[in-house]
Amino acid sequence: MTPNISLLLQKKEFSDEELKVLLCLTNPEDCNALYQEAFRRTTAVHGNALFWRGLIEISNVCVYDCRYCGIRKHNANVSRYTLSQSEILSAVRYSLNAGYGSVALQSGERDDPKFIAFIADTLRAIHKESVSMGIPSGCGITLSFGEQSYDTYCLWADAAGNKTALRYLLRLETTNPTIFRHIHGEGRRRKTLIERYMALSDLRLAGYQVGTGVMIGLPGQTTDDLVADIRTFQKLDVDMLGMGPYLVSQGGTLVNEGMMEKNALMTLSRNMLATTRLVLPNVNIAAATALETLCPNGRSLGVLCGCNVMMPNVTPQNVRANYQLYDNKKGTENEPDANVQLEKQIEQQTGRTVARNRFGSSLHFRLRNHFAED
Ligand code: 5AD
Repeated sequence: MTPNISLLLQKKEFSDEELKVLLCLTNPEDCNALYQEAFRRTTAVHGNALFWRGLIEISNVCVYDCRYCGIRKHNANVSRYTLSQSEILSAVRYSLNAGYGSVALQSGERDDPKFIAFIADTLRAIHKESVSMGIPSGCGITLSFGEQSYDTYCLWADAAGNKTALRYLLRLETTNPTIFRHIHGEGRRRKTLIERYMALSDLRLAGYQVGTGVMIGLPGQTTDDLVADIRTFQKLDVDMLGMGPYLVSQGGTLVNEGMMEKNALMTLSRNMLATTRLVLPNVNIAAATALETLCPNGRSLGVLCGCNVMMPNVTPQNVRANYQLYDNKKGTENEPDANVQLEKQIEQQTGRTVARNRFGSSLHFRLRNHFAED
């Protein structure tokens, strides 16, 4: 290993220049040293447990046209679906019976009154169901429904019932304003970075564990941008992070801009995950499904460089293929017991143990709010 890398990896605080050195590593020996240090520090803070959330993709209907995304509104080649409440509840039961302790609900973005009420109703039903299944305070719930009003966040927080295991994921996608504007397209329902920051602040006020993140390897993105992303996570004092490689989607409108070469993209993604772990030891970091699409066993490789959360797909089989955010998304073709296999495989490959019947809330959030271990 390069001697100065070994010294760098002993540090607790890093300058921007040092973060950039870590993000730019390519020599396999140096990279492995970074990943091992991130894994070691994750174990020291979070123990050996890996927390799973059953991911239910409840609808691919979306009113936005984000250019990177395969389920954007004007992609006519998507067959649109919305799960019924009973389909959602059966995916919740599957997750809780499997001992995951938490579920994550995600969909394309909508903010009409019918959708807002449907989600509120469904959250009440999930809470009730999980109490009746023997979790006295209700299961953990993570929401990923894009930008909503403060009142909607509060309505959903109330409906979800369990205040100590309530989470919301809203990625910034990138903190570079020029790239943000470029990848979010034009038109009346265009996203703005400032509104995204306001939404993250509203979520904090509404009591959620707040998660954000970025895509890695976006067209035009530099390692300086990734350093700025990490600094923003620190400033926002986030509780959770989800970050994955940017993968081109034929249904998007960025096809001509291509994507990074696969091996280089995997290395950059792992460098970003591991470096972020060194800077933010207490937050939950998810191993994104996009890692798996890029590389076989990609999520294990994520765990081995600092991730401590996974979100296995528990969406009903018949609609999975319609939730293609990017090309060749993994997990769409899986057999019903694929998650049981996946669990064994991840445990074998990483040496971690999938936690049973625990919420696995962000330690960072629990310390800030003086919540006990869950
Ligand atoms: N490549 C990688 N990640 C993507 N997402 C959406 N489209 C893509 C893509 N083409 C991610 C976004 C979003 C999350 C739900 O999926 O970061 O926040």
